[in-house]
Amino acid sequence: MRQHRVSTVRRLARATVAASAAAAALAFGFSAPSQAADPSLREVAESTGRFIGTAVNDGLLSNGTYSDIVSTEFDSVTAENAMKWEAVEPQRGQYNWAGGDRLVQFAQDNDQLVYGHTLVWHSQMPGWLQNGSFSNNELRQIMTDHVTTQVSRYKGQVQRWDVVNEAFNEDGSLRQSKFYQQLGASYIADSFRAARAADPDAKLFINDYNTELDNAKSDGLYRLVSDLLAQGVPIDGVGFQNHLIVGNVNGPAIRQNLQRFADLGLEVAVTELDIRMQMPSDSSKLQQQARDYRAVADACLAVSRCSGITVWGVSDRDSWVPDVFEGQGAACPWDENYRPKPAYDALRDAFVAAGGDPGDPDDPEPPTGDCSAVFNVSNRWDTGSVVSVTVRTGQALSGWRAQFDLPAGVSLANGWNGSFSQSGSTVTVANAAYNGTVPAGGTISFGFQTSGGAAQDGTRVSLGGQECAAG
Ligand code: XIL
Repeated sequence: MRQHRVSTVRRLARATVAASAAAAALAFGFSAPSQAADPSLREVAESTGRFIGTAVNDGLLSNGTYSDIVSTEFDSVTAENAMKWEAVEPQRGQYNWAGGDRLVQFAQDNDQLVYGHTLVWHSQMPGWLQNGSFSNNELRQIMTDHVTTQVSRYKGQVQRWDVVNEAFNEDGSLRQSKFYQQLGASYIADSFRAARAADPDAKLFINDYNTELDNAKSDGLYRLVSDLLAQGVPIDGVGFQNHLIVGNVNGPAIRQNLQRFADLGLEVAVTELDIRMQMPSDSSKLQQQARDYRAVADACLAVSRCSGITVWGVSDRDSWVPDVFEGQGAACPWDENYRPKPAYDALRDAFVAAGGDPGDPDDPEPPTGDCSAVFNVSNRWDTGSVVSVTVRTGQALSGWRAQFDLPAGVSLANGWNGSFSQSGSTVTVANAAYNGTVPAGGTISFGFQTSGGAAQDGTRVSLGGQECAAG
């Protein structure tokens, strides 16, 4: 998951931000932004192995201040609107890639990831689709063609896709979208299969709002993704939008809920973070907002499978919030004049606290010891359990083998992020092709399900034949 990108040019780029912001200040008569932090948000995020992204309005990329912030402070971009169905296929079968291509090019120029948003959604559908009447077979074909065409267009260039967006009602039932009404729940599995076939390397997400906490809606989502996994439908992750309200953010509860999805073996991500307030803003609301941003970031960073955080807009000037939530705004990390707000510092501090590189090349390496392991039974029932294991290694590894014992009569049902075998009560896990290389101080995570009974919390784990400390 580590996504190191070279950042030699970034200090220079930051100087450009300051210079062009000063020029903008002269031109528009507002005061120049306060200095962005050094190292940037992007740099501290990268050294935690997580991404920090923003929604981008590609039309604003010609604004120097805006595009400088996007390129220096973020290492992932999401199209705010340009990759939605109404933008991409405004007439049936006629595709317009202009906005999406612009964003992908920008990301490539700036060594950034692209988070694709979104393929199948009840909202922002083109008129021909929304209002057209199609047989069920025809609609299914239209939907899978759209997914195939768009994912193929950006094969290898978009690393993650929100394949299905906002599929749920608040009570946890499936939303009565045109797709659900005509095709039933199978529209979801079919969309994911079409996306996987078009780009086997892209990570495929389902994304929703009001699912940040453990509630009826997120329970519905949990049941759905569990079913999809059980049926072998290709799904890799769950996106949690996090359109939140200042003073109303429960970080530990968000963490717990992220963790229960992560324990299914899925990646999780914060995909559309903004935290709005009743206007006008004042300094105490801005301070509270900073604490709330910090709480969400801490929640993600405490979950090893939480791959990153995307904020929904750079500045209060470009945010969707005032257009949609009457009387509310100031939801982003930069203010109307592109000055970083306390929320910006809070996000950055969260990454630094999680081990993000504070920028000093002389920093010592992370402490080395031998190994320590957390063996966490996240879910148990009479005849089985779900376990996640995290092992921290003191030494750099190229290839690893972990072992532990299960209680008598309990056997391994399936596992992820490793190759598993069981002999008697001893389970051996060897690295998968993609996670064998671990730096000193780095972690290994894998998980599995048991049958015939539950595993025991806190079971000791050994790495390369050596018993690891607990915790
Ligand atoms: C919003 C955009 O920010 C607005 O510009 C647009 O007018 C409407 O959509 N959930 C989503 C996003 O998944 O696509 C939405 O984006 C915000 C809510």
